[in-house]
Amino acid sequence: MIRGGKKLTGRVRISGAKNAASKMMVASLLTDEKVTLTHFPRIGDTAITAELCKSFGSKLSISGETITIHTPTIVNPVAHSLSRRNRIPILALGPLLARCGKAEVPILGGDKLGHRPVDLHVSALTAMGARITEETNGYRASAPQGLHGAKIIFPFPSVGATENTILAAVLAKGTTVICNAAIEPEILDVIKLLQKMGAIIGLGANRVISIDGVERLRGAAHEIMPDRNEAVSFACLAIATNGKITVEGARQEDLITFLNAARRIGGEYEVMRKGIVFWRERALTGIEVETDAHPGFMTDWQQPLVPLLTQAKGISVVHETIYEDRFGYVRDLNAMGANIKVFSKCLVEVQCRFNGYGFEHSAVISGPTPLIGGKSAVRDLRAGMMQIIAALIASGVSTITGVEEIDRGYYAIDARLRALGADIKRVVLKTSNSKL
Ligand code: EPU
Repeated sequence: MIRGGKKLTGRVRISGAKNAASKMMVASLLTDEKVTLTHFPRIGDTAITAELCKSFGSKLSISGETITIHTPTIVNPVAHSLSRRNRIPILALGPLLARCGKAEVPILGGDKLGHRPVDLHVSALTAMGARITEETNGYRASAPQGLHGAKIIFPFPSVGATENTILAAVLAKGTTVICNAAIEPEILDVIKLLQKMGAIIGLGANRVISIDGVERLRGAAHEIMPDRNEAVSFACLAIATNGKITVEGARQEDLITFLNAARRIGGEYEVMRKGIVFWRERALTGIEVETDAHPGFMTDWQQPLVPLLTQAKGISVVHETIYEDRFGYVRDLNAMGANIKVFSKCLVEVQCRFNGYGFEHSAVISGPTPLIGGKSAVRDLRAGMMQIIAALIASGVSTITGVEEIDRGYYAIDARLRALGADIKRVVLKTSNSKL
């Protein structure tokens, strides 16, 4: 429950990156030695991945923000179900095939942002010698002759498929070349860990990644990069509430496109030695934004930005080019008083791959419109953060249900927002059939 209208001010330290941490936990399956990760985020997504690793035989020890994962042997390369779902299990196929020659992982979950197929993962691993079938409860894979290098050309720089190919290639025979690879900072961070473990991975021009397979990998220690989605969320909170937040750990190099957007709408920032301070400099004005693969404006940043655009004078346009269905949350924001229309046409600059298919993937926001608190349920992780930001700038009280989805990606978000001055509390809602 959030009562809006408070300025958020103070310092917040951002956690290790969710979208690097879980991949590194999977990378630890590539060696029989210990892998230690520091700045480890204790969030829902890494808890699901810990459950996955344990089911294969990993021993995990967590102390504060440090996790050590040790998988001397893969006791069982088969995981059929987990208590919750995320996007990670399919990334374990490569490490399991390298160590056992066979693997089964559960069907994927994660945010519902469109169809989210895994065809690129499957075709890359198949080109490397894996046989993969999709069963009702998951993916079954084998590589009787082991995995070998291959040239993989992605039609789209998929983050997950690039990671999957790298994780499969590091112990494969020969060289793998990935063309049109994703090069998100979290992927480079996973590559840094793999290099420390003994892998040979080259980054070429024009999104080419080449991997020379090695015989074995060893243990290593690595500090996980800061979460740039958390950084952007807190930056948007500072600008939205007209407060001032020092985001400790935010790195300019990870946020270049966001920083430009923040300044163009009327936000301002100062880059410090160990973080970035954000505030609102002037009355907000509308802008146009197009999401894209890195180094473009990240798709996960459009949800925290849009509530600010509802407070900006004039028209803003957001063209989502990564997911075909990432504007479901607009209904909640309009119910609070926003004026947002979604279109299936590609607005802004590029005609993206969703053009002509009828997906409502462009939004036009007219502002400023006052927001009024209300009741809403969390649709997905980043939309959940959008709802928090909207509630903090709305008048009255907002009730957001299903916040455990937000916990999947943000550590103790309610406590951290309270420390910045937010009027927010986590409650268990009692319903008529509640057993509580
Ligand atoms: N795609 C395919 N075929 C594939 C793989 C992807 O068509 O085989 C399509 C997807 O349907 C989607 C697009 O490619 O339209 C992007 O998918 P990608 O594989 O790049 O994303 P992902 O690996 O599933 C990761 C993050 C997302 C983030 C995206 C884009 C993780 C666990 N998730 O997803 O993060 O939005 O990259 O940067 O790393 C979040 O943290 O809230 C989140 C959704």
